[in-house]
Amino acid sequence: MPRHWRAPLSLLLSAFLPLCTLAANSFENTAIVRTVELGGALVHVTTTYAVKALEDGSSVYTIALGEREHAHTAWLEAKLKGQTERLPLEDFGYHRDSGFYLYTIELPKALNVNQTSNLVIETVQTHATYPWPEEAAQKDPQSLKYHSELLVLSPYKTAVQRTKIRSPSPQVHSYTTPEDVEFTTDAVVTKAGATITYGPFYDIPPSAIQDFVDKKQKEIVIHYAFDYPVLEITELRRTAEISHWGANLNIQDNINLHNAGPRLKGHFSRLEHQSQAYFGKAAPHVLPSLQLHLPAGIHDVYYYDLVGNVSTSHLRTTPSTPKGTEANRFSFLELRPRYPLLGGWNYSFTLGWDSSLSDYAGFDSKTGKYVVGVPIMTVIPSVVVDDAEVAIILPEGATDVDYYAPYPALSESISTHITYLDTIGRPKVTLKYQQLTDKHGGVIYVTYKVPFTAHLRKPVAVATAFIGFFALAFAVKRVDIRLRRK
Ligand SMILES: *[C@@H]1O[C@H](CO)[C@@H](O)[C@H](O)[C@H]1NC(C)=O
Ligand SMILES: *[C@@H]1O[C@H](CO)[C@@H](O)[C@H](O)[C@H]1NC(C)=O
Ligand SMILES: *[C@@H]1O[C@H](CO)[C@@H](O)[C@H](O)[C@H]1NC(C)=O
Repeated sequence: MPRHWRAPLSLLLSAFLPLCTLAANSFENTAIVRTVELGGALVHVTTTYAVKALEDGSSVYTIALGEREHAHTAWLEAKLKGQTERLPLEDFGYHRDSGFYLYTIELPKALNVNQTSNLVIETVQTHATYPWPEEAAQKDPQSLKYHSELLVLSPYKTAVQRTKIRSPSPQVHSYTTPEDVEFTTDAVVTKAGATITYGPFYDIPPSAIQDFVDKKQKEIVIHYAFDYPVLEITELRRTAEISHWGANLNIQDNINLHNAGPRLKGHFSRLEHQSQAYFGKAAPHVLPSLQLHLPAGIHDVYYYDLVGNVSTSHLRTTPSTPKGTEANRFSFLELRPRYPLLGGWNYSFTLGWDSSLSDYAGFDSKTGKYVVGVPIMTVIPSVVVDDAEVAIILPEGATDVDYYAPYPALSESISTHITYLDTIGRPKVTLKYQQLTDKHGGVIYVTYKVPFTAHLRKPVAVATAFIGFFALAFAVKRVDIRLRRK
């Protein structure tokens, strides 16, 4: 059960009632448009529901995810079209009678009969594609397959719906043309450039029921060229160590990187790789380097692997921005693995840096507590993080430790970390996550007291804006956007 379970009792009860009761016929979908942006390790799906209330006071809209979709969905958020604020979302988990995973969305204002609203549901799917063929020679192109379902299912009746699948390149090798599809008299599927459109399909009855799936749902498969490496971080261990004596925040990432592209057929030829690179035609399934946006204001960056220091990377640091201003600046690291990373290969390395603690810390004189914000991870576009552990090590003797994560962790703990210079050890906050995506950037705020001796070397005035961020973190954590995993 999510940590911030706030369902009204009526909702809670309805979870045990048949779906038709839960959905209560209070809406109708006048139109659904689903757009799937195909990628490598991540696939972004945006579904817009134009909904119409069928009775007065309709404020809770239910969406349903099928088994496969749920298994791959690592992020789900709901907004009103054109707005940036996330709507409160409740996760009801698996609903046995229907065979679906249900989520309810609370509309900001209840709708009366015939009133309409446009809901936008964004999800990120992980591990939803796989290389096909599974093996490729060094000079071969790379292609992926993606499976999905033809129809967007809903507990409500739908007047019209369509699904657009966008491939990153117009080179789509194949796509399914389902047969015997009801709900349309026209072509089931059309392709224009890199976009494949299924539908429009008309007059679909409430469909989030197993019987409908068995009789009417169809599987679709897209086979497309993908010209970038498919990257997964199978393990990320981030350790953030706060030192008031040194006024320093050290962040260190231990990373296992995996290239999930096709396995290499035959031997790797460095000569071939170099000549491909020379002609600007590097094989799409070989990773020569990774571009990382590290925070501004960092220094003493280090990068080593099992063999030792890796010195072939390029770093461009940027001075830190004043707290409270838009932090759009970053340092840029072009990280080169010791060897080009081929499909199926792994690369383990350690990357770390120091920053001035005052860039991350504030002091709240009202509570007498320090507040330190630690980014959960360095977000890398299109990369999934399978397992993440973030440990924040506080100064020795810190007390009254509290923390606020932007989304609930799978597990969390406070323990004591002892190094050889310590006497009583330091409190360590550890949070674990799975399936983090490019939507999961965010900051863990830790608050604590430090008794008399330890102080920030440069006393940090509380920037009100910083406390503002902190308040924002409180607000955000009330909305549970993380899906539960098995
Ligand atoms: C809602 O719309 C339908 C169809 O347009 C109409 O028949 C009905 O009277 C409307 N109901 C109300 C309460 O306005
Ligand atoms: C790696 O680099 C760091 C800093 O540049 C240096 O202190 C360390 O001795 C180097 N280690 C090896 C194994 O070369
Ligand atoms: C890469 O790592 C994964 C899991 O981390 C493991 O299953 C796989 O065997 C590794 N591959 C190689 C070639 O070592």
